Amino acid sequence: MVKHVVDTRQLKDRKFLDGLFLLADEMQEQVRSHSVERKHEGKVVLNFFFQASMRTRTSFESAEQRLGADIVTIDNAEEFSSLFKGESLEQSFLATQGFFDTIVMRHPEDGSAKRAAYVLNIPFINAGDGKNQHPTQALLDLYTFRQKFQRIDNLKIGFLGDIRQGRTIRSLAYLLAHGENNELRFISPPELGLPDDMRSYLLNKGTKFYETEDLDAVLPNLDVLYVTRLQWEHVQDKEERRHLMEDYRRFQITSKRANRMGIDSIIMHPLPINREKSDGFPEITPDVDTNDRAWYFVQSRNGLYVRMALLNVLLTGYTNNLYNLILDVP
Ligand code: CP
Repeated sequence: MVKHVVDTRQLKDRKFLDGLFLLADEMQEQVRSHSVERKHEGKVVLNFFFQASMRTRTSFESAEQRLGADIVTIDNAEEFSSLFKGESLEQSFLATQGFFDTIVMRHPEDGSAKRAAYVLNIPFINAGDGKNQHPTQALLDLYTFRQKFQRIDNLKIGFLGDIRQGRTIRSLAYLLAHGENNELRFISPPELGLPDDMRSYLLNKGTKFYETEDLDAVLPNLDVLYVTRLQWEHVQDKEERRHLMEDYRRFQITSKRANRMGIDSIIMHPLPINREKSDGFPEITPDVDTNDRAWYFVQSRNGLYVRMALLNVLLTGYTNNLYNLILDVP
């Protein structure tokens, strides 16, 4: 059966994660030594993007090209595909899937990735659907933990910021819930706190977690502080947006706060950091970028290696052992 990557709950098999990360290590080595095997020449990947993206789209494109595949990218797809003329996502994919070997999609609606996967008979990768899931981001996040700590278990992770609307936090928290003895702290203004579905999931899994607004009390005891920006584009009401942006300021990560963290701890962020549209209050101030704990650029670079590894698995298909360890879409 054809495999899709829609949700991190499909990727919880430890053998899958270990194997994928070993493959990502190989990809990293091959990129550094300019010796990537162009194993997928003759294949074509569609990158179908309805939402703005810098890292995800370009790292997928770079990964696809390095592996020898040709690419077709439709950016701003709401306007530049036939969805503009009223075609449904399903019809669009049914009509065009024969052109491609794999499809990567980012879309603003929760559940759109599942709809796409349902009709496709070629592998599909969710590059972010609404506030729901961003599974390749969670994979690269976990890979970064492994790089820093040589483990993906027994970690204390503080998720800071817009927990209610952030697909990266949901995706990563679900994967961490399947690890051993990971402890999660969710730090946010109350109106951007843990959604009920996430709380239920973590409770069901028996994951140790708590919710708090007291950032300064949490900082010294973390291995990882995972910061996210306020997803202001999801807040239509201007007054609510102004209120949230102001409330967000008390959670700003400055050098002073970064230095309250343990010497071996790290600060991660899926990026982008909102530096230009934050009224002068970015969630991480620029001086933190040069702090030894700032790992967000390393994290971003890891996206290339992890996406190369995942594409290798999906473009190879059922003859690859890891392919068969991807679980069904929930
Ligand atoms: N982290 C992430 O998804 O970044 P982009 O929106 O730039 O792809």
